Amino acid sequence: MAPRGHIQTSTFIPSPYFHHPGTFPRLLPQPAPSSIQSAIPAGPAANPRSESRRRVHPRPGSAPWAESRAPSPRPTRPREHRASCGVREKMSSKFKNAKRIEGLDSNVWIEFTKLAADPSVVNLGQGLPDISLPMYIKEELSKIATTDSLNQYTRGFGHPSLVKALSCLYEKLYQNQINPDKEILVTVGAYGSLFNAIHGLIDEGDEVIIIVPFYDCYEPMVRMAGATPVFVPLRSKPVDGRKWSSSDWTLDPQELASKFNSKTKAIILNTPHNPLGKVYTREELQVIADLCIKYDTLCISDEVYEWLVYAGNKHLKIATFPGMWERTITIGSAGKTFSVTGWKLGWSIGPDHLIKHLQTVQQNTVYTCATPLQEALAHAFWIDIKRMDDPECYFNSLPKELELKRDRMVHLLESIGLKPIVPDGGYFIIADVSLMDADLSDMENNNEPYDYKFVKWMTKNKKLSAIPVSAFCNSETKLQFEKFVRFCFIKKDSTLDAAEEIFKAWSRQKS
Ligand SMILES: Cc1ncc(COP(=O)(O)O)c(C=O)c1O
Repeated sequence: MAPRGHIQTSTFIPSPYFHHPGTFPRLLPQPAPSSIQSAIPAGPAANPRSESRRRVHPRPGSAPWAESRAPSPRPTRPREHRASCGVREKMSSKFKNAKRIEGLDSNVWIEFTKLAADPSVVNLGQGLPDISLPMYIKEELSKIATTDSLNQYTRGFGHPSLVKALSCLYEKLYQNQINPDKEILVTVGAYGSLFNAIHGLIDEGDEVIIIVPFYDCYEPMVRMAGATPVFVPLRSKPVDGRKWSSSDWTLDPQELASKFNSKTKAIILNTPHNPLGKVYTREELQVIADLCIKYDTLCISDEVYEWLVYAGNKHLKIATFPGMWERTITIGSAGKTFSVTGWKLGWSIGPDHLIKHLQTVQQNTVYTCATPLQEALAHAFWIDIKRMDDPECYFNSLPKELELKRDRMVHLLESIGLKPIVPDGGYFIIADVSLMDADLSDMENNNEPYDYKFVKWMTKNKKLSAIPVSAFCNSETKLQFEKFVRFCFIKKDSTLDAAEEIFKAWSRQKS
């Protein structure tokens, strides 16, 4: 790629960012006027029962978020209110959802995370690492928490020290300069980047190509933008008795080409891929790049698992292909890079002429991301940027650790007679579970795809959770993938031991 023009690098000047105009003073507690104060009921100190009544007591060992949705005790006043307004009899038409969210109410994570919240369930469902995160990340975060200024709003498009660290890291990978202020946007997780990219660049009437299976939020985000998703499936080659690998799943170049036309605004690419673990090769990416250039199409490249690539594979960035930088938004995630999914920080990298539209969405929606987390993430990056050739660098050590866990999961699934698709990247493995002969006849909702019923049955009866792969498909391709279930293997050994016990007992029962 030809070097681009001279760029300015940002310096850390806290003052303008820490005083977002108009909002800071309002955060200071305001004393209520005395007339109001006298009407405020006394707090818990005066009435010790009031606090304990409001609090929801979590079940021992259960996940806190599971409780946050628990029904609270019903107060009496709202019931009278409901009756007097006649809400029960007739819903106001004003209560109806906005059209853009019509039909988008079900969500696999909400549904299956709730099921897996039972502490007796071994959770191989959501991509939620239960391994310990690196000690230096915890230390950095705890140091930062004590710095007052780092607990206030920061620059909306990315905390200055974080965008600086990201530009330094990605300049090495792109072998080109990246302007930290104009070509990087820090977002609320990779979800935030996907949302900003889709809403900043896609219009009603546009078509967006989505490769099936796909990370589930791509389709609803495209629909919410008023655009039409156009699906193209990955298809498996016959494997003739050898191990089935994610690299056996490929796009048919002719089929892909047939989906492009003058209305195609973008293609969403995901490499390494969730849920298959496919790592696209240079040749495969070149086919996509050629089509993007031919049809003047954007590429939204979701690369959240960029460091999690196993022996014999290499992650390549489509943005570095000739002619692609100017039309590509590349998306990363702190959650996947440093095993801190709860931090919900992500970033978009791309040319100024695209990133500025994502910035417009961000400044009018979430505005900014958490300052202490961004600062801690910047420190974590600096530590690892300085030792990128060292095996201790987390970018190198995590894939090594995960490759062992992947091999263990492959062995485990094979030992019970399943044929897993061995992933070349990411931290999920999928397998055809129809061979498990589960009796799903008493599952309540018979209209659900096989994998939905299977995972619900397995969670209830075997105390093991996973994610149905048809959740990553559009309605037309669900049938093609409904025999597959996704297991997450970024888990500590004791969690994998517990899963192994379940599988072994299950297979003993079968024989
Ligand atoms: C492919 C892919 N993209 C995006 C995301 C969302 O990442 P984040 O948690 O950073 O929002 C995930 C999370 O699992 C993912 O697998």
